[in-house]
Amino acid sequence: MQQFDLTIRHGLVASDEAVFEADVGIVGDRIVEVARGLPAGRRDIDATGRYVLPGGIDTHCHVEQRSGMGIMGADDWYSASVAAAYGGTTMIVPFAAQHRGHSLKQVADDYAALAAAKSVIDYSYHLIVSETDRQTLQEDLVEQIRRGITSFKVYMTYDQLKIDDYQMLDVLALAARERALVMVHAENNDVIRWVSQKLLESGRTAPKYHATSHVALAESEATNRVIQLSKLFDVPVLIVHVSAQDALATIGAAQRMGAQVYGETCPHYLLLTEDAMDLPGVEGAKYCCSPPLRDANAQEALWTALKDGVLQTVSSDHAPYRFDESGKLPHGDATTFKQMANGMPGLETRLPLLFSEGVNKGRMTLPEFVALSATNHARMYGIAPRKGLVTVGADADIAVWDPRHEVVLTASGLHDRVGYTPYEGTKVTGWPRTVISAGRVIVDDGRFDAQPGSGRFIPRSTPLPFQNERALSASSRFFRGLAEGASSEAHATFGYTDRKNQN
Ligand code: URP
Ligand code: ZN
Ligand code: ZN
Repeated sequence: MQQFDLTIRHGLVASDEAVFEADVGIVGDRIVEVARGLPAGRRDIDATGRYVLPGGIDTHCHVEQRSGMGIMGADDWYSASVAAAYGGTTMIVPFAAQHRGHSLKQVADDYAALAAAKSVIDYSYHLIVSETDRQTLQEDLVEQIRRGITSFKVYMTYDQLKIDDYQMLDVLALAARERALVMVHAENNDVIRWVSQKLLESGRTAPKYHATSHVALAESEATNRVIQLSKLFDVPVLIVHVSAQDALATIGAAQRMGAQVYGETCPHYLLLTEDAMDLPGVEGAKYCCSPPLRDANAQEALWTALKDGVLQTVSSDHAPYRFDESGKLPHGDATTFKQMANGMPGLETRLPLLFSEGVNKGRMTLPEFVALSATNHARMYGIAPRKGLVTVGADADIAVWDPRHEVVLTASGLHDRVGYTPYEGTKVTGWPRTVISAGRVIVDDGRFDAQPGSGRFIPRSTPLPFQNERALSASSRFFRGLAEGASSEAHATFGYTDRKNQN
């Protein structure tokens, strides 16, 4: 019988499909057995009364990154990865952000070095692409995709990052050819700009007007627009941080009509409303994110969309800006809603909140929680089968949850460097008491044990939406060919002529 380095015994293991009694045997960094009645390993964890779940994967978080407004976040790869681990997340995928005028290759190389030196858990990163010149798209982006960075984000708003529709078409065509997943921040920039300008001119500067200016139709219009553009090439797109019913309805309708569109939401849209921003002075800035918090009806629609499969992932969108002049309040108490850094912390609280409010309150099953917190992330972003399930052959990334353990969330009890939490005083039930990263017990009953740089870069394979590619329509083949500069003779071989295209 094999000698295990580590065993987790007497617990309930959950996958995205089932919950079952099993012990888990680990050798080195891998799971080598999942079965009943395993003998104790060199180290043995008693999981009686606990759930043995795949470590969470957070595929949308901002770490050691400058925002769309040019503001540096407070967390580096060390503090962010420690906070993630305490919250049951064993892989993070933040963003190497290309701001306008910068080389994508340089941005990616610099970011890789920061991550390698500091992360305590395994990681990858997406790119944020803000330039669409030949060097960026055809050289640097292609090189990054081929080394396993198989997804990237584009913005339809934020002046320093946004791309226009023409550029979006270049990006989508490239993604179709290279089989990379495009994540889209979908908000109509001009609607936000126009409403903001009028609000400021009329003296409405308080944080709560952020929500007014990022009106839900700005989100649904941009969501619809990028979905339509993606249909030109029949290329998958994933709409990140979906916040409202209109955008959800747009995504759901497009899915029913066969568009390859996927979606993500975040705990703050499920649990908070825009009323949180209506506080004295600039206090409401703590709750400012884009898209903004909405209302109770939006929350209900989002929970339903997680159940129905319209949305595939729940990510933190951790955006760590301190409540001071370095982040939320660049002009102190005189900061207007237009000047506040956008985003909220959430790496450590993502899974406990989703577990407490989702599983323990009966809004989702345990397998659904596993899917939304880990398995779907692994599949959507090319990390499966290496991660995302407690199964033989997978990396030993595991969180052992006590479903009854109660924690009152406070900023001082969390491990990021933000200094506040939007959930101060909120009681959650259920917490990951033991967290294992690649076979190492890194969190055990509140104690942390991992060195900076001990996390590994995980090259990612082709995202799931490209793995079972369907036959392309003649129209999609034509426009994909057109993006590559194919001649009309070449197009004729696809059975799609220039004349047809004139209709
Ligand atoms: O407000 C947010 N979400 N800030 C983070 C940046 C982004 O667009 O995701
Ligand atoms: Zn965004
Ligand atoms: Zn984000």
